[in-house]
Amino acid sequence: MLYDAVIFDLDGTLTDSQPGIFACAQYALKKMNWPVPDDRTLRRFLGPPLAESFARYCGMDEETAVRATALYRERYIPIGWKENQVFPRIRALLHALKEKGVYLAVATGKPEHTSIEILKYFDLFQYFDAVAGPTPGDLHADKGQLISRVLPKGKKAVMVGDTAGDIKGAQDMGIDSIAVLYGYGENEEVLAAGPTHFVDTTEALCALLCPDMPKKKGYFVTLEGVDGCGKTTQADAIQALLTQFGYTVHRTREPGGCPIAEEIRKIVLAKEDGGMCAETEALLFAAARAQHVRQVILPAVKEGKIVLCDRFVDSSIVYQGGARGLSREWIKEINKVALEEGVPDVTLYLRMDHSAALARRLAVSAPDRIEQMGDKFLARTEEAYEALYQENPQRFLPINAAQEKDQVTEEAFQALLKRLQEGGVL
Ligand code: TYD
Repeated sequence: MLYDAVIFDLDGTLTDSQPGIFACAQYALKKMNWPVPDDRTLRRFLGPPLAESFARYCGMDEETAVRATALYRERYIPIGWKENQVFPRIRALLHALKEKGVYLAVATGKPEHTSIEILKYFDLFQYFDAVAGPTPGDLHADKGQLISRVLPKGKKAVMVGDTAGDIKGAQDMGIDSIAVLYGYGENEEVLAAGPTHFVDTTEALCALLCPDMPKKKGYFVTLEGVDGCGKTTQADAIQALLTQFGYTVHRTREPGGCPIAEEIRKIVLAKEDGGMCAETEALLFAAARAQHVRQVILPAVKEGKIVLCDRFVDSSIVYQGGARGLSREWIKEINKVALEEGVPDVTLYLRMDHSAALARRLAVSAPDRIEQMGDKFLARTEEAYEALYQENPQRFLPINAAQEKDQVTEEAFQALLKRLQEGGVL
């Protein structure tokens, strides 16, 4: 270990706040009917005080820039600050450093209160011994001063940041610095400031600060529930949140997920029945799965990704077993071959009454072949899911899917996050 105290800058080093900042600046400018500059110019808003950027890059006088800043905040306070993304591997790095007893702090130019809110929202606050940012009294605190507030005595410390200001701040305080070139800083400028080290990626930062960090761990998550329970909408929302929290996600679905399995999907879900018998249907789902597991799921988990799969083997047990009445043992048997070691680590079970779910679904789209099977069939799927949940209380995470959409997302995401952390997936 080179350092036993690491002080991080926030924006552009731990998190990517570009999406929120762009959206809020665009919101303010549109409301004022002011021309919106291109992305290159908007990137310059990341870092300096807002009013200064509105004046300099949008040609506003002081009074207009103050009005633009107020409009920016109108969106930033309720929404914009959450439109942030933790850089990949940062969570795992903080965790690994903390485990080794390294002192961790943040010194940021973003107001201290907002910075703490952001760290808490992304569940990173727990890793830090101290956080310093400008408070209402000292909006012009320079980086060196901010570092001095969190610098511990008697430790070998380093400042990690993406701008020349971070490097100069470290030099003012007589400590080493690491320039990260994946952030917003102009690379030439930050390198010209003379950092002790520089890195291009978060992986390289991990290698420098914690050489024996554990390898990235993958995880296999499935979503299950009766037709119309809202799995696909929830999968979209959960995928977006996981990405924001710094995870690398591979989103997929069944039947499908790779070209061969997508072809099989067309056959099994075709609206015309074609006289398909239940056994053929079960074997086709298993065949699609065998391909999907080997070609997509297992390789992605091995690469350390979170695989998020909309339906999986439980659907076969429920639909072909429980609802169509085939032997569940036989369904399990043919799927043993399909699965290899591709068993889900966790299953988000979107639990809901089947008739309410179907009514919700039919309000937005025409029924497919399976949805046309009628109420009794769908009632059996609900019963079969309940039975599976009783059999797998550890793997199944029941989520109340009858709630309002955002509440379902919140409940499902928090439950999943807890599981990921318990499983050491960071
Ligand atoms: P899809 O359009 O993906 O619907 P949903 O959004 O409800 O998942 O269609 C998948 C249908 O296929 C769904 O009715 C359940 C059925 N199915 C099975 O019968 N067995 C299986 O093994 C799988 C994966 C799906």
